[in-house]
Parts: sequence; structure tokens; C-alpha cells
Amino acid sequence: MELMSNHKATAIANANIAFIKYWGNRDAARRIPLNNSISMNLDHATTTTTVEFDSALNDDYVLIGGKAPNDAPRARVIAHLDRVRALAQIETRTRVQSQNNFPMGAGIASSASAFAALSLAATRAADLELSERELSILARQGSGSACRSIPGGFVEWLAGSESANSYAVQLAPPEFWDVRDVIAIVSTAEKQISSTDGHAAASSSHFLAERLTALPARLARVRRALFAHDLAALGAAIEEDALELHFVAMTSVPPIFYWSPGMVRVIQAAHHSRADGLAVYFTLDAGPNVHLICEAKDADQVAARAREISDVQQVIVNAPGGAARLIEQHLF
Ligand code: DP6
Repeated sequence: MELMSNHKATAIANANIAFIKYWGNRDAARRIPLNNSISMNLDHATTTTTVEFDSALNDDYVLIGGKAPNDAPRARVIAHLDRVRALAQIETRTRVQSQNNFPMGAGIASSASAFAALSLAATRAADLELSERELSILARQGSGSACRSIPGGFVEWLAGSESANSYAVQLAPPEFWDVRDVIAIVSTAEKQISSTDGHAAASSSHFLAERLTALPARLARVRRALFAHDLAALGAAIEEDALELHFVAMTSVPPIFYWSPGMVRVIQAAHHSRADGLAVYFTLDAGPNVHLICEAKDADQVAARAREISDVQQVIVNAPGGAARLIEQHLF
């Protein structure tokens, strides 16, 4: 079946920072994770995506940041469009344009905001109206962490056991807690290993089982700390979890190192700040940046201290962000 006329929609979605990390899948093809994860959406890190279904096209035309992507990222976008076409029972091809508001190459994970925005824009452009849960399930298949960028604010991804019960739900709306993620962007020359490859390697780590055993209690600590607005309790749990993600990566066979000397300097500076009475806690993703979590009132000072570190190229301050949403202004 073809859609009869032009159908276009544009969506915006926030990236998110995980407090408890997603690392390893029980089903890699469907991205069913080994564990629940908890995150906060980032209001200053967004992807905007316009999708247009046009029955006059005989291929999909994709531009990311104004450029045609390489084969692998293009294939990943098209596989996602194919999921939407299967849901809508159409074969119509698309024009897709996607734009991040944060600098490309800054190392901020963009697959979460990218697949969340693509899921919402593509389904609406295909005349589908999915529930939040259905959208989260769809976004998850493009990139696991993208399912957490569908609901707003503070979010938990329920790992589930199959595709239909693996999706993210809101724990609390953005205004629930006035915390900040001050992202310290650290320069790195090394080429990175994709998180997809990192997830695949996780099961080769002897440390994975230990992390998974510790997680139910840590997830409960993070939920309690969030609901109690207890930054010290949240901070202790998120630092533990970020380190354990990297222990799993480093003990994978062969080992994966995302660390750089600059990252270590930012982490140490956070600990020094804490010794000086500034409540700031770090977390890390599978990349070169350090995320500094603090109360809103301390964000300027945390950002100023981060800027003093010569390894830090740029600092981006994020408040809790909202849900993935449709907007009127199309990119083309
Ligand atoms: C370290 O969601 O990027 O950021 O499903 O392969 O796209 P894919 O992986 P991705 O993994 C994110 C890993 C992480 C931790 C997290 O965000 O939970």
C-alpha cells in the first residue's frame, strides 16, 4: 500500500543521561537489555527530525546534520523506517532530515535523541498514532537508550523479557527536582568503540555477573534518592554505577577503554570540589565526556570549575528535559 498524498511531521527529542546504565543485552537484535536503567532527559541536548513520506520517491533520502550519512548509520535509519512502514503497512519511501542542537563530534551520545525523534516523526508522518509505551518500544529497537527519551523528566526503562514489555516509563516529571547535568566535554583523539559493540562484549566480562547482582539494590537506592531529593545518596549510587559500567568494559575480552587522562582529571576535580563542600557527583557514558550532577543553585560554580580544567573544551549545562514532542516548524 502507498500513502496517497504527502505526509510530513517533525519531532524534537532530548538526549538523556543514565543514572543507572544500560550495558549489555539479553537479546541484541531486539535490544532487550540485561537490566533496568534510570535516566534524566537533558533539556539542552536535542535532536530535531523531519520525516516526509512521498509516494513519488523510489528510495529513502536521509540527511543528518546536512550531510548524507555513511553506510552503517544510514542502514540503521532505514531499518528503523522499515519498522515504521511495517507498522503502517506501507511501502512509501521518505525524505528525512535530522539536526542536533549540540555540536557534532562533541561526543555527546546522540543515538537516544535521534531515534526518539525519528520514531515520533516517522510514525506521525505515516498517520500512525502510537501510545507513549508503543513509541518507547519502537524507539528502543533503533537504539536502546532512545526508549528513555520518549517520556519526559526522570525515567526508568523496564528491561522486560520480550519486546512488548521492554519500554520506559516516567518516574517523575522534569520539574520534580531542580538538578543539573553539567557536561564537561573533554577532548579526545582516540577513535571510540560504539556502545552497540560494547553491549555485545559485556557478556565476556567476568565482572558482569557481579554488577547484575548488585543492580536491584542500586536501582532501589536511585529511586529512593530521586523521590527524596537526596543528592548525596543519588551521587554515591551513580558514581558506583558509572565505574562499574567501565569495569565491565575494561574486563571484556578484548578489553574496551573509554577512559582518557582528561576524564580522570575532571573526575578528580569533582572529588576535590566535594571535599571543599560543593555537592557534585560524576557519571560517564561510553564516550569521552564527564557528566557532573549537582543542584541547580550550584551549577554555575560547577561549570566554572570545569572550565578551569585545561582538558575541558566546552561545558553544557542541562536541566531536566521534557518528553519527545511534535513541533510545527519542519526542517525542509
Ligand atoms: C553507556 O543506547 O547507545 O550510554 O542500543 O546499541 O544504540 P545501542 O546502545 P546505546 O547504549 C547506551 C550506553 C550508555 C549507558 C546508558 O545510556 O544507559
